[in-house]
Amino acid sequence: MFSRITGTGSYLPHKVLTNQDLERMVETSHDWIFSRTGISQRHIAAVDESTSDLALHASRRAIEAAGIDPQEIDLIIVGTTTPDRVFPSTACLLQHKLGIRSGGPAFDVQAVCSGFVYALSAADQFIRGGQSKCALVVGAETMSRIVDWTDRNTCVLFGDGAGAVILQASETPGVINTHLHADGSYQDLLAVDGGGCGTGRSGDPRIVMDGGAVFKFAVGVLDSIVEETLSVNGMQKSDIDWLVPHQANIRIIQATAKKLGLPMERVVLTVDRHGNTSAASIPLALDTAVREGKIKPGETLLMEGVGGGFTWGSALVRL
Ligand code: ACO
Repeated sequence: MFSRITGTGSYLPHKVLTNQDLERMVETSHDWIFSRTGISQRHIAAVDESTSDLALHASRRAIEAAGIDPQEIDLIIVGTTTPDRVFPSTACLLQHKLGIRSGGPAFDVQAVCSGFVYALSAADQFIRGGQSKCALVVGAETMSRIVDWTDRNTCVLFGDGAGAVILQASETPGVINTHLHADGSYQDLLAVDGGGCGTGRSGDPRIVMDGGAVFKFAVGVLDSIVEETLSVNGMQKSDIDWLVPHQANIRIIQATAKKLGLPMERVVLTVDRHGNTSAASIPLALDTAVREGKIKPGETLLMEGVGGGFTWGSALVRL
């Protein structure tokens, strides 16, 4: 038994924050932000919108695209680093909002920007193992709630949004395989100070980051995960139809595309419009490309991401 993506959906909050808006908030410029990151704008959740609300809209669209009854969903996994509450999990809140009464498992995965790939991998294992038949896998974030809006080093990078897929049991492989990694020794290069339950840190949660070091690390591990994915599958670079990368920075994405020998026309790019939406960025990019008619059924996609932890991972998927 394998798992296959049968529907995608996404949601972006209505409010758009442009680079020009940011010029009025911190000492920065559109040229600085765009030339170093490729970002022009990002979406920001309304004051009464939480991560589970964003997830709900994206999930409804994925359910509609898959043409299923929500009651068929027997597993919900939400990748998020900005849960509505410490507990219950965002997945449980989402299950309730969708009115799903199956009693199937629902849980969150915390792997920051790799959260969707981690969640997809977990759901794939549940389906391959015969424990689930129809999974809702979501990446959803309200990064605007943990951004320090006075820190120009970080506040220009992030945005809010959600993406979702329906993953169903199938006799033919959709998710071909996934590769996941983590190395906690890099925990201080990209982290959230405050907001947790640890000792010695208090106050509101705020992202802190060594941007240059993160950049270097990301390019290195994405290089190696591309090699690992191709070699484990005995595939050539030319077997990949589309790269669907985590949307952190255009220069990181270009480095991975170069490694794959893929022209940028075969890379799904949303970073310019969405900014870095952490766990939401890959399913948001996937849904955008599917709805724009770029990615077609039967094509082979390489999804990859890297995030705080550090965590990183890939998913090789035939749509
Ligand atoms: N506007 C203007 N100047 C800025 C801004 C800003 N928004 N932010 C920082 N600067 C200044 C710094 O203070 C520094 O000034 P100084 O030299 O006087 O100290 C200078 O710009 C640094 O400039 P560069 O070295 O040219 O910056 P760099 O090319 O490293 O780009 C960036 C910085 C964009 C953060 C880059 O390192 C990066 O993208 N790193 C990856 C970070 C990332 O993607 N994090 C997201 C989470 S992890 C993930 O998703 C992969």
